[in-house]
Amino acid sequence: MPEVFILGIESSCDETAAAVVRSGAEVISNVVASQMAVHQPYGGVVPELASREHLRAIVPVVRRALAEAKHSYQSLDAIAVTQGPGLAGALLVGISYAKALAFALDKPLIAVNHLEGHIHAVLLEERQKGNYQMQFPVLALVVSGGHTHLYLAEPENEGWTYENIGRTRDDAAGEAFDKVAKLLGLGYPGGPLIDRLAPHGDFRAVKFPAAQIKHRDRRDGAASGKSGNHDRPRFDFSYSGIKTAVLRYVETHNLQASIEGRRRVLVKISNPTIDDYLAHCDKQTLNLVASFQHAVVEDLVSKTLAAARTYDVATLLVTGGVAANNELRERFDRQASRDGLPVYFPSRPLSTDNAAMIAAAAYPKFLAKDLAPTDFSAEAGMALR
Ligand code: KG4
Ligand code: ZN
Repeated sequence: MPEVFILGIESSCDETAAAVVRSGAEVISNVVASQMAVHQPYGGVVPELASREHLRAIVPVVRRALAEAKHSYQSLDAIAVTQGPGLAGALLVGISYAKALAFALDKPLIAVNHLEGHIHAVLLEERQKGNYQMQFPVLALVVSGGHTHLYLAEPENEGWTYENIGRTRDDAAGEAFDKVAKLLGLGYPGGPLIDRLAPHGDFRAVKFPAAQIKHRDRRDGAASGKSGNHDRPRFDFSYSGIKTAVLRYVETHNLQASIEGRRRVLVKISNPTIDDYLAHCDKQTLNLVASFQHAVVEDLVSKTLAAARTYDVATLLVTGGVAANNELRERFDRQASRDGLPVYFPSRPLSTDNAAMIAAAAYPKFLAKDLAPTDFSAEAGMALR
């Protein structure tokens, strides 16, 4: 089969990304321009600022991706872009640019669901290692700042089918990491910080009640990807309760003054190191951070493995920004291997938002000639099916 080079473009949230991927199997270049510094003072992504930053970054990021890949625009076989889900204004920047590029170059344009991209990040990673032998059906946990989803995924003809069997009822897991970090006067994004601070605390120190979804809710098929599957068991998540529990702990243990002090000091340090954070975190805060992370990881791992057993899947994929978390990776490795279930993660650069995953997910669509209609637009709440 001839080699296929796809340029991926991703702009769904706060990263402007472009990448060239060969035949869904090899990353030739992978450029990510993070807007973290822009959003940091606000403790979260500001949608309008995100759109403006994408507009600023998109041309140089795509040029760099091509230069690093040593490819010309003309040597590309197709252009792929994230259609959704994400911030509408942010998505529109990538889509407008991709449409213009595809039109000017007379190349096929492929629209990709961001969540499908996260799933294909793992497949891309494995193909790069020479592993083309994944067993199906696969259960994929997509866990990021905007999503906590469980999908049964299978190749079908030349495309893929997905069935959603779990989602968050409120906050996504990454969102909980970010909100708790903000609440404790740590920086943004919170996930990587909590990941690095947690090993310095005692995870047994604070007991959080397990985030439980009632049995009745687990049979709600409204979000199911396939029609006719309304009675299939569901494994939903909920992380707003644990965030409130952290807030209550802060109030009942009078931590507000020390949090304010930490916030004031850290804001004055440009690019604080982990030692800066540690120097301004007391034992009680580190214990709280460790206990929070432990509880979220425990919930993600136990529900995912319960779903894997119920649906008798052959393989587990864990992907999305939170899949970069060390404790999550260790727990999945340990507990899935106990169940005899192979578990795969993307490397850390492919875990968080990137465009290589978009180009990889576009490859089977390219083969199936599943191209975007000329009038397609951003779909902020796009479902995966
Ligand atoms: O996939 P991603 O880059 O963007 C979305 O699609 O949301 O995920 C970003 C999320 C943020 O909430 C961030 O705090 C979280 O992933 N994250 C982590 C880690 N690295 C990023 N959460 C926990 N541990 C990490 N190491
Ligand atoms: Zn993402």
